[in-house]
Amino acid sequence: MAVKTRIRGIIAVRSIGFSLSMSKRRILVTSALPYANGPLHLGHMVETVQTDIWVRYQQLRGNECIYVCADDTHGTPIMLRAQSEGITPEELIARVAAEHKADLDAFDIGLANFYSTHSDENRELTYRLYDALDRAGHIERRSVRQAYDEKAQMFLPDRYVKGTCPRCSSPDQYGDACEVCGATYSPSELKNAISVVSGTTPVERESEHFFFKLGAFETMLREWTRSGTLQTAVANKLDEWFAAGLKDWDISRDAPYFGFEIPNAPGKYFYVWLDAPVGYMASFLNLCRTKGWGFETWWKAGSETELYHFIGKDILYFHSLFWPAVLHGAGFRTPTAVHVHGFLTVNGEKMSKSRGTFITAKAWREHLPTEPLRYFYASRLGSGLDDLDLDLNEFVAKVNSDIVGKLVNIASRCAGFLARGFENRLAIKLPDPALYEEFTDQAQSIGELYENRDFAAAMREIMSLTDKANLYIDQNKPWLLAKDPDKATDVHLVCTQAINLFRVLIVYLKPVLPRLVAQAEQFLGGQALDWDDIQRPLLAVKINAYEPLATRIDTASVARVLEVDKPVEIAVSTDIKSTNVKKPDGDTATLIDEVSIEDFAKLDLRIAKIIHAEQVEGADKLLKLLVDVGDDKTRTIFAGIRSAYEPTALIGRLTLVFANLKPRKMRFGVSEGMVLAAGPGGKDIFILSPDTGAQPGMKVK
Ligand code: MSP
Ligand code: ZN
Repeated sequence: MAVKTRIRGIIAVRSIGFSLSMSKRRILVTSALPYANGPLHLGHMVETVQTDIWVRYQQLRGNECIYVCADDTHGTPIMLRAQSEGITPEELIARVAAEHKADLDAFDIGLANFYSTHSDENRELTYRLYDALDRAGHIERRSVRQAYDEKAQMFLPDRYVKGTCPRCSSPDQYGDACEVCGATYSPSELKNAISVVSGTTPVERESEHFFFKLGAFETMLREWTRSGTLQTAVANKLDEWFAAGLKDWDISRDAPYFGFEIPNAPGKYFYVWLDAPVGYMASFLNLCRTKGWGFETWWKAGSETELYHFIGKDILYFHSLFWPAVLHGAGFRTPTAVHVHGFLTVNGEKMSKSRGTFITAKAWREHLPTEPLRYFYASRLGSGLDDLDLDLNEFVAKVNSDIVGKLVNIASRCAGFLARGFENRLAIKLPDPALYEEFTDQAQSIGELYENRDFAAAMREIMSLTDKANLYIDQNKPWLLAKDPDKATDVHLVCTQAINLFRVLIVYLKPVLPRLVAQAEQFLGGQALDWDDIQRPLLAVKINAYEPLATRIDTASVARVLEVDKPVEIAVSTDIKSTNVKKPDGDTATLIDEVSIEDFAKLDLRIAKIIHAEQVEGADKLLKLLVDVGDDKTRTIFAGIRSAYEPTALIGRLTLVFANLKPRKMRFGVSEGMVLAAGPGGKDIFILSPDTGAQPGMKVK
């Protein structure tokens, strides 16, 4: 806390030393653990950037604030993904962790630890929580019936069963819900169900599962949700779930499963969603062990430290019901609050690979600076669950205007005069202390906006101050004053004032723009600034030579980012040498003479495994194939190879697939790729032999 007094027009500060340390908060913060089976995309970055801004703000206020995260590494998708790539799950998660870390670093996400749920600490804590829950009588064993794949010898999660919707008869629907009519059902109700893993028809099998008895925590949860822990919209959603009645939660899965085996229950594993949030604790425990900190102080029941989880709205149930109940039931503290955000759309639509609006963090960082995106997100993030849109034109316009045109402009307009006439030394007083005070007076309200995660409003306040600073320069015109030798003192004072206003602004923006602000601090003499440092203006000291702090973003580089993960359309490429020829039926066909190596490089040619094949009614040349191309989702491809193959003969075989062909809507459904086969036709169309040793996902190089 600081007490402000005015001395001869200059603001001075008396700090009360002890009050700062007394009010210092101890805060542990997490963002959701990204799955270890795919790259981070710009939606993930909304969350980590939001969390990071909040954490940096707390640190700037002198609080002890620790931000940890990890990869979420367990579960069926990761197990199968590794299998289809022909590597172990451990190899897969190690590779992905390295990619995730590189992305997080590039976006300046200030994590104290980025760990893994596949770790000794997580196993230790998961067992400890489970054991406590079991002892307290919160675990129950019960037999359940579930879809089972006899060929792959595994139980199938709902999403691994596909078939025809029992309500509206739409083909190709997942085992839990129909994407066409919205019906929800169990996999056994699907018509013509097949296992996505092997293409065979699943059977039902019984197995003993472990359940966490959530119902026993209703009173505790009702209290917890109404004690300032949740945004109103979230609390209301929870009321619906309370009204519907809390169901027991199935926390076990049968082997084969990549995860932690349940103690004294061979062949039974903890469901990934049980050990995932424990991963928050495990990442912190790992940090405590390297730093020699006390883990228990932070996690024991009744702990006076604060604990916040930042998450997206899709994983609300886990974080606002299961997790607090599990913690409470096992004798640990519950979260202080769960902060839920909305979803990112790009150019007004859900991110989509085929539209080219699925942008990975890697594609962004390789083509564009990351800090402007942090600023743009901040300017769009409120404290609620609203979705936010990254309109790329708006992005370019806003960043160029606010950061380059307004903020950096203040420093760059004045630095030259200070260098040329005053050896970079600031004047000994401010000519307009009232204006300076107007700037510092906003510290309270901007601080509250950060604290409450209303970053958009904070950015608006800061930008309106930025406008005021530019207006001050416009009105005092140092460039005119500089022409009159008698006005040298005025030039000095005006520039000193402007630089001090700039200094206040960069302190306000420090949580959002850590890199730019570090450079600006260098310019201002090299001292790392705290929130309270603005209470005393910077006077009579030498600052450093000005180096450009930001450059404009051009639309072309943004356009390039959109191209990175976009499927190609070969026929429209202008690099292809082609000749138009008339076909007998009067249509025009294109005869391609040569394709450049660059064009060829755009094709994603991969080995695919055919997991299912069937005839297409009304199309005697076509087969409908379900193929695994080594990513997280199987694809449907229509191929004109009916004359050469019986569908059943193809199941399990490998073929070459053109995987980034733009999806095509056909009369029978959407085809998501092209099978490459060769031969004169008829009975002789050849795909890969079954025993090549190739693996789905392998790329043609
Ligand atoms: N592994 C689980 C979380 C376990 S936490 C104990 C998971 N992983 S995820 O990779 O699918 O998502 C991680 C976070 O990113 C989630 O909070 C999710 O809401 C968020 N987002 C994923 N896509 C998003 C957008 N398009 N926009 C904003 N956030 C999004 O869920
Ligand atoms: Zn349906």
